[in-house]
Amino acid sequence: MDIRLDGKRALVTGGNSGIGEAVVLALAEAGAKVAVNYVGHPEAAEALVQKIKSQKGEALALLADVSDPQAVTGMFAAIDKTWGGLDLLVNNAGIDGAHALAWESDIAAWKKVIEINLFGAYHCAREALKRMTAQKSGVIVNVSSVHEEIAWSGYSAYTASKAAVSMLTKTLAQEAAPLGVRVLSIAPGAIRTPINRSVWSDPDNMKDLLEKIPLDRIGEPKEVAQMVAIMASDAASYVTGRTVFVDGGMTDYPDFSHGG
Ligand code: BGC
Repeated sequence: MDIRLDGKRALVTGGNSGIGEAVVLALAEAGAKVAVNYVGHPEAAEALVQKIKSQKGEALALLADVSDPQAVTGMFAAIDKTWGGLDLLVNNAGIDGAHALAWESDIAAWKKVIEINLFGAYHCAREALKRMTAQKSGVIVNVSSVHEEIAWSGYSAYTASKAAVSMLTKTLAQEAAPLGVRVLSIAPGAIRTPINRSVWSDPDNMKDLLEKIPLDRIGEPKEVAQMVAIMASDAASYVTGRTVFVDGGMTDYPDFSHGG
């Protein structure tokens, strides 16, 4: 089976690094036009756009802080101007925040995680759904995490934001389904990206991590991106309102392979 997204107009938030970058490339490879949203490192976004154009694809780089609703409105206006609308949104922009026990966390830092991971996804979904429900087609894929399900000491804002994204996905899916729009989440486990460099670049941390992963290896961004392309395509035309886990079995609780 060939996964194709020919002519689809896509936006990937946080598209210039990590999982976002791999998603941008996978969607472009499947034939989509891709808007690469970024907030820092414009040169990385520009390099991706050039790469896609050199392969005869269409792409543009768009600066916007997704936690700022006005910036998001401006970004969607720019996409309207260039492509006349949107068919696919990948809400990927996110941060995990500084490690701190909940009662020792800085409130502003805690809020920032929620503002980017949850409000950011909502702001973009809101603009996308106005367009998609009007045209009666479209797909939203929210990049969640295994931590929408697995508690993670030191990251209470992150886990809370991802659990909230899961329920946001279900509710938006229920609202938009009668209008022909699908809304899904994808929950990556440990994927080799800048967000967790301190883990995969340190042998002791890596040893500890692998004990949590039945497939016994860290995932690669492409392995998440491929699944996003499938979820966005007509190959998944009957799938909505659910989170797909891409985690090497992390949520299969490998500790229970013995004892209990
Ligand atoms: C986090 C990574 C972490 C992974 C598994 C992700 O959501 O961003 O830092 O390695 O979950 O715990």
